[in-house]
Amino acid sequence: MTLLDNRFNRNVHKIATSAIRDFDQKVSSVEGIIKLTLGEPDFATPEHVKQAGIEAIQNNRTTYAPTPGIPELLQAAARFMENKYDLHYDQDEVIATIGATEALSTALQTVLNPGDKVLVPNPMFSLYESMILVNGGEPVHINTADNGFVLAPEMIEEALETHGENVKAIILNYPTNPTGVMWTEEDAKKIADVLRGKPIFVISDEIYSELVFDRPHVSIASYLREQTFVINGVSKSHSMTGWRIGLLFAPRQIMKEAVKVHQNMVTCATTISQVAATEALVNGADDAVPMRVEYIKRRDFIYESMTDLGFKIIKPSGAFYIFAEIPADLDQDSFQFCLDLALNNAVAFIPGNAFGIGGENYVRLSYAASMANLQEAMTRLKQYVDTQRA
Ligand SMILES: Cc1ncc(COP(=O)(O)O)c(C=O)c1O
Repeated sequence: MTLLDNRFNRNVHKIATSAIRDFDQKVSSVEGIIKLTLGEPDFATPEHVKQAGIEAIQNNRTTYAPTPGIPELLQAAARFMENKYDLHYDQDEVIATIGATEALSTALQTVLNPGDKVLVPNPMFSLYESMILVNGGEPVHINTADNGFVLAPEMIEEALETHGENVKAIILNYPTNPTGVMWTEEDAKKIADVLRGKPIFVISDEIYSELVFDRPHVSIASYLREQTFVINGVSKSHSMTGWRIGLLFAPRQIMKEAVKVHQNMVTCATTISQVAATEALVNGADDAVPMRVEYIKRRDFIYESMTDLGFKIIKPSGAFYIFAEIPADLDQDSFQFCLDLALNNAVAFIPGNAFGIGGENYVRLSYAASMANLQEAMTRLKQYVDTQRA
């Protein structure tokens, strides 16, 4: 017992570090391992965007930015949303954040009081749970596995019946990490109908909106703008994860509060990166198109290879993940499966239970990796599965 035991913030004490990063670290020392673990595009940042970053440094754009962001980025972000998704935001309804991660954190901190509940469709991006807890809230997990990983309106109605007025917010994420599943316009409309007029904030994480394969992305804000925070950014669309620029959009009344949280947390996002992100959105609005073409090829390859081995997969229509159910004739404990595969055959996936309920018996892999690595990973997976079945 030391002097400072039990003196920590109780909410921080409740959470653990990211299960995804922990597993990634655990298997990193295996020699020659192919890691399909983290959600990180393998493309380089487009050349014109890199140049804009270099010029920003040369032109001494190295001082603080205004708290919400540099005006040219906020304008470019608003135009991008209008042109791509038919969503209208004025410049003062946008904030440039430190990645989508800070946008999520800012949204939650803006609305949560101790004990407030937040509905979270599962399987989910695991930071949602820890961010809710750290901000004093309580996650209410909704298992979507039986509905093809799409949230159904009745599931929300049921959760509201059980948890009533304590529900302060709901997090939505389409296309979804870890399943790659998208929803239809009809799904979005029906969910908006359930939430409309209720004092519930919608936190809509649309970071994969540019990586959609079969149909256009639909934002819930098209139907429920007045209650919604939209979260986006350039990490996935422009392969800019390390530049750390996210975007938070919300109606003025909400933004007036959110900007205070953002200011207290970070003052402003990095100026150099904001200049580069402006270039990405102004002159690179369609930079994701060639990446999308490549992702589709890889998705099809992994989908076919794993299906042939007996994995059950809902074919993803967005993002760059495959969420696959381990065949019933193998050990379906997702942690054990991933550990064994990594240690014996040097391929790393993430255990499905890192993504909440509905993820047990599943593995997630990211196909944001070279085709050569994916081919080798599938060869090794086949060897592992054949040995288990022998
Ligand atoms: C669903 C989802 N939201 C947010 C993020 C974080 O994005 P950023 O790197 O812009 O903070 C990720 C990253 O993997 C993600 O998968």
